[in-house]
Amino acid sequence: MEGEATFPPPVWLMRQAGRYLPEYLAIRAKASSFLNFCYTPVLAAEATLQPIRRFGFDAAILFSDILVVPDALGQKVSFEQGEGPKLDPIVAPEDFAKLTETLDFSRLAPIFETIERVKQDLPKETALIGFCGAPWTLACYMIAGKSTPDQAPARLFAYRYPDQFQHLIDRLVDVSIDYLAKQIEAGVEAVQIFDTWAGVLPAAEFERWCTAPVAAIVTGLRRRHKGARVIGFPKGAALHLKDYAVRTGINVLGLDSTIDPEWAGRTLERNLVLQGNLDPLALAAGGAALERGVGDIFSALRGRPHIFNLGHGILPQTPVDHVTLMLERVRRSAAQ
Ligand code: CP3
Repeated sequence: MEGEATFPPPVWLMRQAGRYLPEYLAIRAKASSFLNFCYTPVLAAEATLQPIRRFGFDAAILFSDILVVPDALGQKVSFEQGEGPKLDPIVAPEDFAKLTETLDFSRLAPIFETIERVKQDLPKETALIGFCGAPWTLACYMIAGKSTPDQAPARLFAYRYPDQFQHLIDRLVDVSIDYLAKQIEAGVEAVQIFDTWAGVLPAAEFERWCTAPVAAIVTGLRRRHKGARVIGFPKGAALHLKDYAVRTGINVLGLDSTIDPEWAGRTLERNLVLQGNLDPLALAAGGAALERGVGDIFSALRGRPHIFNLGHGILPQTPVDHVTLMLERVRRSAAQ
């Protein structure tokens, strides 16, 4: 995170708290809904800490979800078992009237309490990472009201009503700055901005809907918290990565699994910390695929500032033993 190359690199995994862990499933069953789980500090703090206790990762990520932001703007959000998120969709610009201008911080208060609780129990040497969804990815869910493969509803909306869509993005920029600033005040040491759906946009739209809003968040956040450390994760952004990293001013760039780490190591600025990018399916498969995946990342990125991670979230079917093996492999590399 400070921009130095260390070996072995620090390691954590996206979605490291989750359904592949039996202890997660046990506490998940105690909450009436997934959102209530996120809003119950005792449970959310426990979920955050579980992977740290079991594996000793170098960082914990706050247990929550990106969709608490639309929820705190007054949009109806729920999670149906096995179906993913459901939101009351925004079908036309008139529907923006249903959203509030600013976040309802009384709704989000339990999240800041979770951060404070986690900080008390986290080992001193373990970093705590907060997060939010990038404006584009949030808009995708807010407009479609559910997961879609290509985000056609948000893309159509942006073509049909570019000015109104820009207003939505601007509002999401403002509230994300408020939300991340409060996470930092509660105790997180870095924040990650998840742009899961960055990869569906044509090149001409990418700058406007992905790069510019994230750049505005980084600038706004650093105005409030000088030196705030930000990890950008524009999934699927491929050849935009170089420009994205420079324009947004992020400290760390999360690489998805499709990115050749060798290309990234050669092409991206030397002072940019790279994070990633083992294929979650290689971790689920284990064996030779896991061994080769880790080895390729190390031969490409050794000598550069690097945080070892997956290229997307860990999959629920991942055997817990594979995570242990992966950590041994990552840490053993120091001796080689
Ligand atoms: O461990 C961690 O990484 C922290 C917790 C975390 C969750 N969601 C918990 C969660 C984080 C950082 C997220 C981010 C998130 N949420 C993203 C961006 C990252 C990504 O994965 O692309 C997105 C797009 C969402 C929205 C979301 N939340 C979806 C699409 C789903 C359903 C899909 C699924 O995996 O079930 C969720 C639910 C969700 N968020 C779960 C977890 C552990 C599973 C719900 C459950 O346990 O019942």
